[in-house]
Amino acid sequence: MGDDPASRIYVNNKKKACEYCGIRSFEYALPGDTTQEELMDLIEKLNGDDSVDGILCQLPIPKHLDEKAVINAIRPDKDVDAFHPANVGKIMIGDYDFLPCTPAGVMELIRESGIDIAGKECVVIGRSNIVGKPMAMLLLHAHGTVTICHSKTKDLAETVRRADIVVAAVGVPELITGDMIKEGAVVIDVGMNRLPDKKLVGDVAFESAAKKASAITPVPGGVGPMTIAMLMKNTVKAALVHHENK
Ligand code: GUN
Repeated sequence: MGDDPASRIYVNNKKKACEYCGIRSFEYALPGDTTQEELMDLIEKLNGDDSVDGILCQLPIPKHLDEKAVINAIRPDKDVDAFHPANVGKIMIGDYDFLPCTPAGVMELIRESGIDIAGKECVVIGRSNIVGKPMAMLLLHAHGTVTICHSKTKDLAETVRRADIVVAAVGVPELITGDMIKEGAVVIDVGMNRLPDKKLVGDVAFESAAKKASAITPVPGGVGPMTIAMLMKNTVKAALVHHENK
């Protein structure tokens, strides 16, 4: 919705991934002055459309619209972002259909790298509904000892220094510096920050953190592609469930 340049890039990448996987995608590029009613009508239409297995509303949406109402309106079994409260609740109890794409992508990176989470000190920086909170929950399900840091955390550096696994998802350019990283820690950077000179940087100062970390993700090219891969996975899962129920 509207003309957020970052959203444009994300949506294009999601469409490309669909094409690559053989998933049909339908884009509704709504103008910035779309009304709540028009948006809700579109969601209702897609909810009832049998040729649609997954629905995603790229966030953020313009300020005059009610984001919560939009998230609540998407049918939970088509909610491939896993933002609907029904899906969020299921994640909390560890009995879920879909995982939110970014935290799921981070878990996949950790697992595929052969890193065992059980018993590890995991520090998540950021407490958003989209990344920080579900990320902490997934690490907890994997038996990590999890700390969530945020803007009111008293001593961020000291807390991060304890971590075996650091996940930065706070949206502050290069907030996490090498001196905060324990030798051998695993560092995962979810941040995507555009600097005034247009350079894209993460929440981690890569150069200095890479000197300490045993594994670290770059920005761009680290977590981002994983998020999209997990979106494809959720969509295929939704399609299989819909097919079984036909
Ligand atoms: N905006 C930033 N990240 C996301 C995401 O994972 N899903 C959607 N729908 N919007 C986003």
